[in-house]
Amino acid sequence: MTLEHLHEGEHSKILYDKKKNILRKYPTRHLELGVLYREAYWTWQFYLGGVIDRDGSLVRSSLGEPLTAENLPGNLDVQIYRILLALAEKNCRHNNIQPDNLLVDRKRQLKLIDFAWATWTDEEIPSTWPSDLGSGFKGPDGFSDEYSLRASLDCVAGQVG
Ligand SMILES: Nc1ncnc2c1ncn2[C@@H]1O[C@H](COP(=O)(O)OP(=O)(O)OP(=O)(O)O)[C@@H](O)[C@H]1O
Ligand SMILES: [Mg+2]
Repeated sequence: MTLEHLHEGEHSKILYDKKKNILRKYPTRHLELGVLYREAYWTWQFYLGGVIDRDGSLVRSSLGEPLTAENLPGNLDVQIYRILLALAEKNCRHNNIQPDNLLVDRKRQLKLIDFAWATWTDEEIPSTWPSDLGSGFKGPDGFSDEYSLRASLDCVAGQVG
C-alpha cells in the first residue's frame, strides 16, 4: 500500500492511496465541535460514500482534481444551478464554500467537498463555532452558499496565467 501525503493544512491531514483511489481525511482541529460526524454525514448524503474508520479518519474515494483557472468548467451557470439544487434537495447549508472546497471531476463537473461545517438549512450556526468560518467568501449579510459559490468561481476565474 503506497500512501501519498496529499494535504496537510490547518484543520486536517489527508493521505491518498493512489492504487485504490481512496483518501483518508484526519481532522486535526475542532473535533470536539463534531466536524468529523458532520463531514461523514453530509459526504454520505451527497456521494453515498465515506465511512469513519477505527483510526478516526474519514475514508472515501477521490472526487476529482483541485479547481483551477485552467480546468474551470465552461458552463458555470449550469454548474452553479446543479450544486445549489443538490444542497436544497438535501436540506443542507455548506457554510464554507471556497475555492479549496471545489473539485473538478473527469466529466468536468464541479464537486463540493469538505462538509465539516455543514448544517441543516433550518439549523442555527452553533455559537461555539469559529467566528472566522467562511471568511473571505462569506456573504456580506452572513452565510450564503450561493454568494460563496459565485465568489469562489469569480476568484478562480481571475487567477488566469
Ligand atoms: N474526496 C476528495 N477527492 C479529491 N481531493 C480531495 C478530496 N477531499 C479532499 N481533497 C483535497 O484535499 C484538500 C483538503 O481537503 P479538505 O478541504 O476536506 O480539508 P480541510 O479541512 O479544508 O483542510 P485544511 O483546513 O486543514 O486545509 C482539498 O482542498 C482537496 O484538494
Ligand atoms: Mg477544505
